[in-house]
Amino acid sequence: VAESCLSIIILGASGDLAKKKTFPALFHLYCQGFLPSHQVKLFGYARSKLIEEDFHRRIGGHLADSGKYPADLVTKFLELSTYISGAYDDDDSFRKLDKIISDYEAGKDEPPRRLFYLALPPSVYPLVAGMIHKNCMNKRGWTRIVIEKPFGKDLKSSEELSDQLGSLFSEEQLYRIDHYLGKEIVQNLLVMRFANRFFVPLWNRDNIANVQIVFRENFGTDGRGGYFDEYGIIRDIIQNHLMQVLCLVAMEKPLSLSPEHVRDEKVKVLQAIQPIQDSEVVIGQYEGYRDDPTVSDESLTPTFASVVLRIHNERWDGVPFILKAGKALDTRKAEIRVQFKDVPGDIFKCKKQGRNEFVMRLQPSEAMYMKLTVKQPGLEMSATQSELDLSYRQRYQDVVIPEAYERLILDTIRGDQQHFVRRDELQLSWEVFTPLLERIEAGKIPVIPYKQGSRGPPEADKLAVEQGYVRTHGYIWIPPSLK
Ligand code: BG6
Repeated sequence: VAESCLSIIILGASGDLAKKKTFPALFHLYCQGFLPSHQVKLFGYARSKLIEEDFHRRIGGHLADSGKYPADLVTKFLELSTYISGAYDDDDSFRKLDKIISDYEAGKDEPPRRLFYLALPPSVYPLVAGMIHKNCMNKRGWTRIVIEKPFGKDLKSSEELSDQLGSLFSEEQLYRIDHYLGKEIVQNLLVMRFANRFFVPLWNRDNIANVQIVFRENFGTDGRGGYFDEYGIIRDIIQNHLMQVLCLVAMEKPLSLSPEHVRDEKVKVLQAIQPIQDSEVVIGQYEGYRDDPTVSDESLTPTFASVVLRIHNERWDGVPFILKAGKALDTRKAEIRVQFKDVPGDIFKCKKQGRNEFVMRLQPSEAMYMKLTVKQPGLEMSATQSELDLSYRQRYQDVVIPEAYERLILDTIRGDQQHFVRRDELQLSWEVFTPLLERIEAGKIPVIPYKQGSRGPPEADKLAVEQGYVRTHGYIWIPPSLK
């Protein structure tokens, strides 16, 4: 089937998100042949009065920096893109944009495709979506809108935003990005869980003691204090990224891989989550956070949180899911750690050696490893901990793992919504966290200070132990590339 021409319109094209994420992702897709020049045109739109050359220099500089692809491809890619300066609240500017896109589409037989990427602050989403709806709709082919969090600050504001967007566009037209859904290991979750007999019978409350989903960053808010102070770590990381991961870890097998089947199952997990108990929450703020001039001196915004979630269903009743995220910690790491129960009737004194764990490391250095107890090689009959290790860098040496945004933008072009957040998922996730956020904001939960570069408040480690997590002492997994 001949594919029709595709217009990708990046609104907020002169901003940081566009420069650092959107254009590099488009460039990588272009380099891999997914955006053929004879079919694709990129329209950057923003308020800044840039001439095209300046715009090209702005985005081109960043593309060349990556050094991943030859420099002449940057030039060719930039030739696909044009810049339009216009306001976000002005019909005339959007009519002008529509005219430019229509001129490009003119004379093509197949119905054209229009993808609007809103690299903008969410406060202007309704306005801009309204302008697109009024002035720039594709009359022959599809129109899709890509947006990114924050989708509101709580249940009420998120629902308001969903209502506003929903009055203009259908769910099939809206692509809510959660870039964690574009990560390789996150995408592997369904395959691991449902295509392996190893896991199928074990993945439940009878065998699993606890699950931790952890995000650590070894830097602070780094110039984003203004944004961050309004949101905090729960809204920035846990309510979206870690909750999406939790859904994939906990959901039942979907009927098929169709986006609606997958998202229906995620929704059921969210519906089964019980109200969060204050005694199962630790929040913290790193020392020095308030030194940022864009952060208030009295700020109580958490930069660290560990929250226990409980899923009230047959599979997970009684299994704590500990979601932990923090900034300015000791390392940069994101992983899912599934800890199994002790072996009953142990004859090897395995307790000393530790429990079985299945760890999926999202980043850095994607890996999956199973911590096992094995015989210590040698003459003695003693047990020790070791691992079965699938480290991607070693196992898939010639494979370049695509960036999350690259994958997700390709999905928006292909019309595959599996890895995008549906409205009901968003709503349910806010239902889980809004009461907790309100209690935090009312000062009902103490914000514990922690040192930059530390593991976060020690109370969080204590919480994990109280939830039944057993740390294996004396065992540490070393990624093979670093051995
Ligand atoms: C973003 C958050 O959504 O994710 C940032 O707003 C955070 O605060 C970032 O740094 C982390 O993404 P990644 O892909 O580096 O883990």
